Amino acid sequence: MHNKTLAIRDAKMNVVDLGQGSPVLLVHGFPLSQNMWEFQILEFAKTHRVICPDLAGFGLSQCNEPRTDLRSHARDLSDTLDALNIQEPVVFCGLSMGGYIGWEFWKQYPEKISGMIACNTRAANDSLEVARGRRIAAKSIFKTGTQVLAQQMAPRLLYGDPQERKKQIQSSVEKIIESTLPDSIAAGQLAMSNRPDATPWLPTIDCPALFIGGEHDEITTTREMTSNAALLPNAQFIEIEKAGHLTPLEQPESFNHHVLEFLNSNRFGQD
Ligand code: MLT
Repeated sequence: MHNKTLAIRDAKMNVVDLGQGSPVLLVHGFPLSQNMWEFQILEFAKTHRVICPDLAGFGLSQCNEPRTDLRSHARDLSDTLDALNIQEPVVFCGLSMGGYIGWEFWKQYPEKISGMIACNTRAANDSLEVARGRRIAAKSIFKTGTQVLAQQMAPRLLYGDPQERKKQIQSSVEKIIESTLPDSIAAGQLAMSNRPDATPWLPTIDCPALFIGGEHDEITTTREMTSNAALLPNAQFIEIEKAGHLTPLEQPESFNHHVLEFLNSNRFGQD
């Protein structure tokens, strides 16, 4: 679906570039791929230019050096926008790890952001205990394999409603996790464990911002997201009902409605 392969330093980035208008950059979570935005790409591309990469090492994007810090992912994204010759600032929309990368992107390239959509994510870094768990997980993935990780992780990401549709989503999330390279999973865990606390940066994010949380998200609570949103000068928080950690996949209609309302009411790139 309108995929391009872009050579960025040691990486070959697989990127969807679809639609026209002000650009929206969709950044996936861990350990997922651009496929998690399958219900957004066509919808948003009706009115915007949608840029949706696989992060280096994930999905179909390859790299020689798996990224062990989030700043490198932010740099890849900045280089990707440059390679696409996108000169105007983008609305950065990141989910979970994609949101952690968003804070880093803001820190490094504030002039490239016109708006921020933070989905199921937080600004705080890991506690010592969580960071330690990630370092252990980064080693054990080579023994346990991605299939076991997929079976353990996918149900935690989704709200537990045993409907057919939910089962389909769960099996597609499992497939994405299973097909991720262990090297990239290990690097992603290390990158997240090393990330800085972005909370002090939040008051500086002065562009329009939308925070979206899932009512039943066990990984990022709506409570934490509400207090993060309150630290920005121009942010609102929306809770999506009957959703867990993957709001765009679980409740695409509601998710798309809120995002499009945000994009249209702020008229990004139209003034
Ligand atoms: C994600 O969805 O990106 C992960 O749950 C983030 C994390 O492990 O903190």
